[in-house]
Order: sequence, then C-alpha cells, then structure tokens
Amino acid sequence: MIVDLPDHAASAALAARIAADLRAGDVVALSGGLGAGKTTLARSIVAALGYQGEVPSPSFAIIETYDPPAVRLPLVHADFYRLEDPAEADEIGLDDYRFGAAMLAEWPDHAGGFTHEPGCLSIVLESTENGRRAIVTPGRDWLERGSWT
Ligand SMILES: Nc1ncnc2c1ncn2[C@@H]1O[C@H](COP(=O)(O)OP(=O)(O)O)[C@@H](O)[C@H]1O
Ligand SMILES: [Mg+2]
Repeated sequence: MIVDLPDHAASAALAARIAADLRAGDVVALSGGLGAGKTTLARSIVAALGYQGEVPSPSFAIIETYDPPAVRLPLVHADFYRLEDPAEADEIGLDDYRFGAAMLAEWPDHAGGFTHEPGCLSIVLESTENGRRAIVTPGRDWLERGSWT
C-alpha cells in the first residue's frame, strides 16, 4: 500500500490509523534516509496514543519508553542508527524493553530488521517533489485488522 504524505497533517493522519490498530508485541519499522520523516511519523504515533508531552528523538539515547496512563499501551521508541552491529540490540536489552510493549523502530535494519515478525508493519518513507510518500507492508498479524493492503 502506498500513502502520499504531502504535509505534516497527512503524516499525522497515517499515524492516527497506526495508533488505533497498534497492539503489544508489534513493531512499526520506519525505514528511509536522513530527513525522510521517520521521527515525525513516530512522534505523531506517540501523540495519537495519548502522550501529551514533547516526544524527544531517540537518536542519542537509542531507546525512549512510554507507559500507561500517559499512553494507551506500553511503548518503545527506538532509533538504531548508532548501532554498529545488530548484536548490540541484544546487548542493550532490547527484548526486555519490548516485553509487553509495542515498538516504533527507526533504522530497523541496523538492529537486524523485523519484517520476519508477523506483528511488523513495515513503512518505507521516501521524499517526493511535494512532501513524502509511505510504502506500507503489513505483516500477517496486521492483515486481520483490515485496511492495511
Ligand atoms: N509529510 C511531510 N511533509 C513535509 N515535510 C515533512 C513530512 N514529514 C516530515 N517532514 C519534515 O522533514 C524533516 C525531517 O523529518 P524527520 O522526521 O526528522 O526525519 P528522519 O527522522 O527520517 O530523519 C523535518 O523538517 C520534518 O518537518
Ligand atoms: Mg529521526
């Protein structure tokens, strides 16, 4: 599925759809180069899950976590750009962070990728002449939720 994102409102609308369907155990894998709009989309998802505060970019900390009641479900927002080897994802305790939580993952390939997981919603962001475009590929668990193909 391809979604045109001509402006921030369009990114926020896609984020709201994702947030409405998001469940514990899921990964929203956000790929695309620097400036593609990954953090923007992730921030809108965190906000659509109920978070009222500023959402920091996890590019320095690698992982930011959010817990109810500030958000509808436990959430991990990760930016794996600085990982030099996917094994480092284990070393920072990613499995523990993910337990019982949904994850928004920027630079997912740097952590080994998540597209083999049935709960992965893969989103590749690209720049266009006006704004951005999202190429959305749902894992098996997302198909039953409808409107992701
Ligand atoms: N749908 C969109 N339309 C226009 N500009 C956007 C859109 N999404 C993000 N941007 C802008 O692109 C720039 C980079 O966004 P960012 O989310 O930080 O990228 P990334 O995390 O992929 O490096 C920001 O200035 C942001 O405002
Ligand atoms: Mg970013």
